[in-house]
Amino acid sequence: MEKLNIVVLSTDLDLRIQVKNSINSERMVIAGFADFNDAGLIKLSGLYPDVIIVAVKGPVEDHVFNFVQHVLSTVQNCFALLMNDRIDVDLVNKAAQYGFRRVLTLDTQPAELEDIISKIYSLELERNMDKNASKRVRSKVISVFSGKGGTGKTTVAINLAAALSKAGKRVFLIDADLQFGDVALAMDIEPKDTIVELVQDRNGVTIENINSFSIVHNTGVTVLCGPDSPEFAEYITGEDIERIIDIARPYFEYIIVDLPPSFNDYSIAALENSNDILMVYNNDILSLRNAKACITILEKLHLKDKVEIVINKNLQGLISVRDFEKMFNMSVIASVPHDVKAATASINKGLPIFVAHSKSLISKEIGNLANKIIQKHTGILPIDMIQPKKRFSLFKKA
Ligand SMILES: Nc1ncnc2c1ncn2[C@@H]1O[C@H](COP(=O)(O)OP(=O)(O)O)[C@@H](O)[C@H]1O
Ligand SMILES: [Mg+2]
Repeated sequence: MEKLNIVVLSTDLDLRIQVKNSINSERMVIAGFADFNDAGLIKLSGLYPDVIIVAVKGPVEDHVFNFVQHVLSTVQNCFALLMNDRIDVDLVNKAAQYGFRRVLTLDTQPAELEDIISKIYSLELERNMDKNASKRVRSKVISVFSGKGGTGKTTVAINLAAALSKAGKRVFLIDADLQFGDVALAMDIEPKDTIVELVQDRNGVTIENINSFSIVHNTGVTVLCGPDSPEFAEYITGEDIERIIDIARPYFEYIIVDLPPSFNDYSIAALENSNDILMVYNNDILSLRNAKACITILEKLHLKDKVEIVINKNLQGLISVRDFEKMFNMSVIASVPHDVKAATASINKGLPIFVAHSKSLISKEIGNLANKIIQKHTGILPIDMIQPKKRFSLFKKA
């Protein structure tokens, strides 16, 4: 069963983290954070939350109540809880009047919070929530990252996108390596427009603009290319990346973000807005050191729980996958073999390895990775996607 999606509405960063830490249940997940503004409403609409937790320290201002009332009438099939440190009868009454189901203290213990959420959710389900609500397709955002260049981030991002598309999913691939992104090159796309034109358009970022500034590749993947020159990177902020993701969410099942090998404003924004972070490393000592440093930073950013490790260019005789797993106390989700022939053929053809060399071991492992990702998010194990007799259709539309 899909986990209950919770969105935390708060402007206070410490409070966001406090609420996040009090949700540590297998059955619930914090899908995102939002502010009490238009961008927050867009984010909430795309995340399809089951539960909205509004966390406020001190007096709860009228605009918060008005905002939540508006959200509850716009975003269907969810209920709201208010967490505050000054609970009195007036506050509880007012909260009920504006549609909150419960008012709780900010120091409510995780077990109690989980219990309250579960009970209200089952009650709501029985009463009036749409029983088919769980059939809504919630998008999953997957960032492909590592603190090191050349490990295979772009290769994994492109091929995973192609594999998910082949499995019938609507996939959006964003090249967010804004200085040295090479998704367009690797997919043999000559983009007329890029992410720079999108964020600079006078109509702002809308779904219409995302579609018109992106290209539907032969694999069926919708691709938003990066700037063709590194100096354009400075035109794009973390807020732009966040907005693109928020606007695209309702239209795509998977949004894959190819990131640069560094922590900066826009890579952190992408990581914060992702459901999963695929960290791509090679099995050598430099990778191991870099992975350690990056995971420490991600832990400080409260993002470590989203991390999955991918070993790429796996060569026998170097550090074993098991050593990686032991070192980080987490399992490696995919171990992609080193295959220069397949990688080179793919670049020469301008097609993902998954298409150009569909029978290679790389494609097989990427197919397995896509299956694991689909299974993780839907709970359903897809039929093995690599079927040698079936040919990849170059005419599939997104
Ligand atoms: N599994 C692999 N086997 C062989 N070569 C690979 C593999 N994965 C990536 N490569 C090659 O390594 C180089 C760097 O890959 P790329 O995906 O651009 O890395 P990054 O995006 O991390 O900088 C490219 O030339 C690519 O073709
Ligand atoms: Mg790259």
